[in-house]
Amino acid sequence: MLRSLIVGCGSYLPARVVTNDELARTVDTSDEWIVGRSGIRERHIAAEGETTSDLATAAALNALKMAEIEGSEVDLIVLATATPDHTFPATATKVQSRIGMTGGFAFDVQAVCSGFVYALAVADNFIRAGQVRTALVIGAETFSRIVDWTDRTTCVLFGDGAGAVVLRAGEGRGDSSDRGVLSTHLHSDGRHHDLLYVDGGPSSTGKVGHVCMAGREVFRHAVSNLAEVVDEALAANGLKPGDIDWVVPHQANLRILEGTARKLGLPMERMVVTVDRHANTSAASVPLALTEAVTDGRIKKGDLVLLEAMGGGFTWGAGLVRM
Ligand code: ACO
Repeated sequence: MLRSLIVGCGSYLPARVVTNDELARTVDTSDEWIVGRSGIRERHIAAEGETTSDLATAAALNALKMAEIEGSEVDLIVLATATPDHTFPATATKVQSRIGMTGGFAFDVQAVCSGFVYALAVADNFIRAGQVRTALVIGAETFSRIVDWTDRTTCVLFGDGAGAVVLRAGEGRGDSSDRGVLSTHLHSDGRHHDLLYVDGGPSSTGKVGHVCMAGREVFRHAVSNLAEVVDEALAANGLKPGDIDWVVPHQANLRILEGTARKLGLPMERMVVTVDRHANTSAASVPLALTEAVTDGRIKKGDLVLLEAMGGGFTWGAGLVRM
């Protein structure tokens, strides 16, 4: 059976770090409120002129380096973003040209904060179908460009960044001891599209718009949707929470991560947490956290890793990967 093995990962964060105290100089907030409600202490913000494709390309090149694969060997790029450089073409095609990939195909997916899990599922299915051998899956965002910097209820929550993984086709036996992506599980419920959205776009206002969020409602849905999809992923593979070595969750709010750990009966040490330093980087948060834990040696070959995310739409999903 064909499996998608993660053979490399990489990330990129813009150089500029903005602390809560710095934000408190321009909006009516405080470090105490932001840390207490979300766990966020600081975030990286892209420089003027630094685009989502710049962040994505840097992360992709780092992932290719770890995988020891040339850009020309990549058959597919799936790039998850809600903050593309342009309305079209896909940001993925800009990355394609910059990594020296002249064949294959590249496109974007849009599932906001769940984007990376969606992109992983898409690439995994191309590999399982035998249509692609090597894929780059990227999550990259510049949310700093779409937050209203005068709205304290949203601007304190987001940051910029990018992460990427390289997938390569390999053979497995078809059970949960295989290395690679074991399964992915995607959901959406468009009835809630107006609880988390951007109030602009090419066919509505013609302007880019700003993030609008009913935070408390989103929080409530996130906790229950994530619990359900994690159960679904484990059941599909005949696994129990205790089998999970690491959870790499979307980093929206530390309280959501603590709720997930409690629900799974796992200690917080098994959750990879970056929200304190990166804030919510939307589609970039899962590959950023994964890369951090692989690079610092926490996640090792053979470990069972649960990825999960929830975002605007609503969209949500999970993936189980044996490294
Ligand atoms: N500083 C100080 N006070 C603030 C701030 C701030 N930055 N923001 C809001 N407040 C005030 C509010 O005005 C409110 O005051 P009031 O009681 O006088 O009206 C009070 O703090 C409480 O506000 P709530 O919004 O009810 O606070 P809550 O405890 O729900 O925390 C938060 C807000 C952090 C946004 C939380 O609801 C949350 O994390 N929600 C989920 C976000 C999420 O998961 N997003 C995932 C997807 S993101 C994506 O897809 C792009």
